[in-house]
Amino acid sequence: MAKIVVVGSFNMDLTSYMERMPRPGETVHGSRFVTGPGGKGSNQAVAAARLGAQVTFVGRVGQDTFGDMALAQWQREGINTRCVVRDPDRATGVAPIFVEESTAENAIVVVLGANNALSPDDVDAAQAEIASADVLLAQLEVPVATVHHALELAKRHGVLTILNPAPATSLSESLLRLVDYLTPNETELDLLVGDSDTAAADQSIEFKGRRLLAFDGQTLVVTLGAQGAQRVTRNDSTLIPRFDVEAVDTTGAGDAFNAGLAVGLAEGKPWDQAVRLAHATGALSVTKPGTAASMPTRAEVEAFLRSATRQG
Ligand code: RIB
Repeated sequence: MAKIVVVGSFNMDLTSYMERMPRPGETVHGSRFVTGPGGKGSNQAVAAARLGAQVTFVGRVGQDTFGDMALAQWQREGINTRCVVRDPDRATGVAPIFVEESTAENAIVVVLGANNALSPDDVDAAQAEIASADVLLAQLEVPVATVHHALELAKRHGVLTILNPAPATSLSESLLRLVDYLTPNETELDLLVGDSDTAAADQSIEFKGRRLLAFDGQTLVVTLGAQGAQRVTRNDSTLIPRFDVEAVDTTGAGDAFNAGLAVGLAEGKPWDQAVRLAHATGALSVTKPGTAASMPTRAEVEAFLRSATRQG
């Protein structure tokens, strides 16, 4: 069984659905409000577990009701919670989310709370799990110094690393050198390439991606929304189209994609098969509302892939 350690965030998602987003200063009517488990790290952990991986989550939640709900969710999903810390001083992270029903697009505010206190020591406590993992998967809703430490530890043990650089922030060359697979979206790619480069916005994904690559064996998988995803290495650049589905809520689609990629690579699949698994997981996740709640099972993903293959 593929073993994945996710170092990342948990937020309680407070999601309002509306016909269209309010503009600054405007009040609009919502049609529905849902509270559910989210956070990029936890969403990726839940999706990877539903795809059949053995998952350990390294994160922090508060000693509050939302923290209890996080642990209950992970336990239901069969995720190892030995390395989850209950922070005595900070509240569990929350994320008010607006979803526009006419487009299925979203806007999110994250109030990270306990996630902000995840420390290198917390990561060290997961050393045994990291050392025996196939893949370490991280995002940027916990301190960058902690992510850096986790990547270092993983590389010291020869573990494949995936960094989903979301939400985007600039990253040091020394951190980027520890990442085997970097998975930005287009906006994140622009930010990582550098704000000072005013021409960056007009350049191709391949060109920008190559500028970011920190070493020969590194791979960038840039998610491009409707166009799919582009894999960029020093020697190759390939666009892998996504599957077309009827989207109801795109929140968490990137998390589903990253989990699919991590599971595919952890299972030893070639990169194109891993990206196909990632695309299928992402596609199915947008057909249901919510974030963690919308993550598909492996059986659902396999059935979807079989029917996509039949349709050519
Ligand atoms: O990627 C979606 C996630 O981003 C949401 O679950 C929200 O908590 C924010 O972290």
